[in-house]
Amino acid sequence: TDRSVQDELRQSIRTIVDYPKEGILFRDITTLLGDARAFRRAVDALVQPWAGSKVDQIAGIEARGFILGGAVAHQLSAGFVPIRKKGKLPHETVRIAYSLEYGVDEMEMHKDAIKPGDKVIVVDDLIATGGTAEAACKLLQSMGADIVAACFIVDLPDLGGRAKLEALNVPVRTLVAFD
Ligand code: PRP
Ligand code: ADE
Repeated sequence: TDRSVQDELRQSIRTIVDYPKEGILFRDITTLLGDARAFRRAVDALVQPWAGSKVDQIAGIEARGFILGGAVAHQLSAGFVPIRKKGKLPHETVRIAYSLEYGVDEMEMHKDAIKPGDKVIVVDDLIATGGTAEAACKLLQSMGADIVAACFIVDLPDLGGRAKLEALNVPVRTLVAFD
């Protein structure tokens, strides 16, 4: 990705100290989303490798992955599959427990949301430990998805998330790193 785009995105992201827990530097993308130019550039940069190729579904991870995933799905003319925190989806689901930088949770998706062989891109705002995205990829792969990539605006490389996805054979794309 273009260096000036990276700098613009980096500058549009706000950092909150000790949120939601002491010791966490929270990288807040609401300021990027509120900046029309940065929001468009982030979505364009995320999809750029797949522009014009056939992608069946975008899987967005609740909650911040929904905002970006919806925009990415529109841009690639793909469907959208929500991966939600437990108890929110009304039909039959598959569920998995996971841990993230500041807690543990469970997520689920509808059993009929993915057909075996569907080409899927996973979208979220940020990868830290990779626990969240790894769980999402495991759910999708258990339903037969062919995960083309997992895309994030922000990478926290010190927390090692990328390797967890690469171990599942999922290529990772990120736009901005914060050490
Ligand atoms: C945040 C973020 C990612 C995840 C990354 O979501 O949006 O989904 O943490 O952390 P990890 O790589 O260590 O797993 P959060 O669970 O805070 O939910 P939210 O989007 O609903 O705020
Ligand atoms: N999710 C996990 N770690 C995070 C961080 N440091 N900032 C924002 N979202 C996160």
